[in-house]
Amino acid sequence: MSNSVFIITIDGPTASGKGTLASKIAAKMGFDYMDTGALYRGVAKTALDQGLDPSIADDAIKAAKLLHKQYDLSLQDDPAIRTEAVSKGASEVAAVQAVRDILLDLQKNFSKHGQTDEACVGVVMEGRDIGTVICPDADVKFFIDANADVRAKRRFKQLHDKGVDADYDEILKQLHIRDGRDIGRSIAPTVPADNAVILETSKMDAKQVLETALKIIVSKYTPQY
Ligand code: DC
Repeated sequence: MSNSVFIITIDGPTASGKGTLASKIAAKMGFDYMDTGALYRGVAKTALDQGLDPSIADDAIKAAKLLHKQYDLSLQDDPAIRTEAVSKGASEVAAVQAVRDILLDLQKNFSKHGQTDEACVGVVMEGRDIGTVICPDADVKFFIDANADVRAKRRFKQLHDKGVDADYDEILKQLHIRDGRDIGRSIAPTVPADNAVILETSKMDAKQVLETALKIIVSKYTPQY
């Protein structure tokens, strides 16, 4: 498949390590990077800031329209969208089809042009439905997975390293609830695209995952000079 912008999609469940992988690939390849989960997190945070309820579809839709108007890619670097309350709200708003429709053009545009119109040779986009719904014609698609226990341990370590007092059992419980919402939902469920490369990373460290992914990308990418 030839796109003028080379598209890499990385989908997978909560805490699968796809964010780390996506940003490292983007840095290595010199590609633009979008964390699409930040959009749903942004909608949830906007709802909470406005006194709206992310679990009510009409409120989620209102918040999505507001977020759409003011969205900036730097949102993905804002720690305020990483709180537990926003994480919970994000998985609620993400189950509303109208919210997904509102956020569609932001993602499609990024896949075509990257961050800026000029000089974008490739993009790495990470989420749940990028290889299936947003970029079905992507050049390389990955689906990153790991068992729930490993993912919960990784999340626990991340929080612990940041000095956050975290409870492992609670993390595992929340992860199962979020998996249930994201994987089990009928709208854009977290499933691999038919032609995705599935990376089961339970027994791999981040370096091994990156090396495996880069080998596959390099075998398919011809730089345009
Ligand atoms: O990847 P994340 O944890 O930041 O995603 C936040 C929520 O948004 C999560 O519940 C899954 C959902 N999401 C989605 O439904 N589709 C995407 N493309 C990205 C995230």
